[in-house]
Amino acid sequence: MTLTIRKAELKDAAQIAKMHVETWQIAYRGHIPEDYLNKLSVEERTQKWIGILSSQKNKNLTFLALDENEVLGFCSVGPTEDKRLSKITGELHALYVHPSKHRQGLGSALMKTGVDKLIKQGFKKAIVWVLKSNKSALQFYETAGWKADGKNRKDKRGKVTLEDIRLGMDL
Ligand SMILES: CC(C)(COP(=O)(O)OP(=O)(O)OC[C@H]1O[C@@H](n2cnc3c(N)ncnc32)[C@H](O)[C@@H]1OP(=O)(O)O)[C@@H](O)C(=O)NCCC(=O)NCCS
Repeated sequence: MTLTIRKAELKDAAQIAKMHVETWQIAYRGHIPEDYLNKLSVEERTQKWIGILSSQKNKNLTFLALDENEVLGFCSVGPTEDKRLSKITGELHALYVHPSKHRQGLGSALMKTGVDKLIKQGFKKAIVWVLKSNKSALQFYETAGWKADGKNRKDKRGKVTLEDIRLGMDL
């Protein structure tokens, strides 16, 4: 594997969407209702990514991990969407590695790229929301120094409500 990490571009939208949907369908089975996972659509997700990548500027950025031209993972960072938190707090909005490539250091490499970007942008703290039942992701973050800060939320996606917990770290 020849790993490259670079900023995502508009032309990557369809590949990111395919990887995103596959990762949800494999990694989140047992955590999220089957029906919801089965209905995820690469086409709809591609349109969402086209929107995200078209408005990608300054602080909201997505980085990709690639082997040659194949997208193996991505990480999105930017200011937190929680307006109650001070402007010094950045957020890891998403971090996904294709399940066929787990435990090979890609998640750590992507997280480091995202966190380094937040530091460069002047953020002093970072948060990430994680599905409460997602023990492997929680282990991953805890190993990297993130800690649960006691905040929970319910994330409504259509008929499905997911329970997330928040982790944070000082940068
Ligand atoms: C969480 C995720 C990004 C981790 O990516 P990864 O590339 O597998 O992680 P790394 O190989 O960099 O792991 C680094 C360390 O984290 C810990 N870790 C990672 N996955 C773990 C798991 N399933 N169980 C326990 N510890 C784990 C280990 O200490 C690991 O080091 P080691 O492999 O030398 O023991 C990946 O599992 C993933 O995409 N999961 C599905 C989507 C998801 O849950 N995303 C997070 C949403 S908030």
